[in-house]
Amino acid sequence: MEQIVQQIEAYKQEISAFEPKNADELEQYRIKFLGTKGIVKAIFGEMKQVPNERKKEFGQILNAFKQLAEERYETFAHLKDAAASGTNDIDYTLPAEPHRLGTRHPISIVRNKIIRIFERLGFTIAEGPEIEDDWHNFTALNLPENHPARDMTDTFYINQNPDWLLRTHTSSVQVRAMENSKMPIRIICPGRVYRNETISARAHCFFHQVEGLYIAENVSFADLKQTLYHFVKEMFGENSEVRFRPSYFPFTEPSAEMDVTCFICGGKGCSVCKHTGWVEILGCGMVHPEVLRNCGIDPEKYTGFAFGMGIERITMLKYQIKDLRLFSENDQRFLKQFETAL
Ligand code: DAH
Repeated sequence: MEQIVQQIEAYKQEISAFEPKNADELEQYRIKFLGTKGIVKAIFGEMKQVPNERKKEFGQILNAFKQLAEERYETFAHLKDAAASGTNDIDYTLPAEPHRLGTRHPISIVRNKIIRIFERLGFTIAEGPEIEDDWHNFTALNLPENHPARDMTDTFYINQNPDWLLRTHTSSVQVRAMENSKMPIRIICPGRVYRNETISARAHCFFHQVEGLYIAENVSFADLKQTLYHFVKEMFGENSEVRFRPSYFPFTEPSAEMDVTCFICGGKGCSVCKHTGWVEILGCGMVHPEVLRNCGIDPEKYTGFAFGMGIERITMLKYQIKDLRLFSENDQRFLKQFETAL
């Protein structure tokens, strides 16, 4: 036993003199003294050779030794922390990790562009609820009760109330604006709309529209044409031309659909415009007198025009996107491509 005590004294001196310069030296020390095969453990193992009457005395010596070895280790533990967090070798001159910003969704890019053009003309943004009632979505807009658009197969109705539905177009916002606003009204209404369609590359159960409405005294079809002509030049470029084709919407009279010069081939004819040189982008017309009356506006005094366009349709044409489902799948590989279009 005397021999072991002597040995412990020697170790104690070694420990007290131990001054590690780095985490490596500290680790060597830990393995040597405190590791599972280390000296402290080995010396504790000597206990069984000590005669019983001296076990208490030897135990005290051992505990003091162990404590010293541990304390010395703790004194330099900061070396280890520093190595772990890398504070010792950070190069502050290196460029920072780039913070990757999310990219704007192509539908948002096109919607914002449309809105900005009309804002510059003095239109303000109006929004309405996506859950609408029959009046605002259909009846006030002159859609007769037996109109096919009201069919359950075309429109999502809300179970709790047969009068409620998911709006099928943003024209419902027109009605709300006309009911509530003072004259003149000059609004642009972007929003999501819903239709009970089987999802495919060309149809989805929800999509986005932008509705426009201008009501004042003496608004004419010429104003409608000029406004939309300006929009097209801003949106698709100076060389774009427009053409209006007579059409039918229950809420406008007369009604028209507007085509623009195909912005892929410039009017020469390609697969996007089906070799016609034109692509259809919106429906429009003079607000029907019955619709004005339904909303408490005197059609003898006021007239107005309205138009509505699908954002997906314009986005698909603009970026030549072939499948509508890509817009709602949130596939990063698809969305990342529009980074530069910000
Ligand atoms: N609401 C029509 C649709 O969903 C689009 C539309 C056409 C809106 C003509 C209008 C308009 O305001 O005048 O297909």
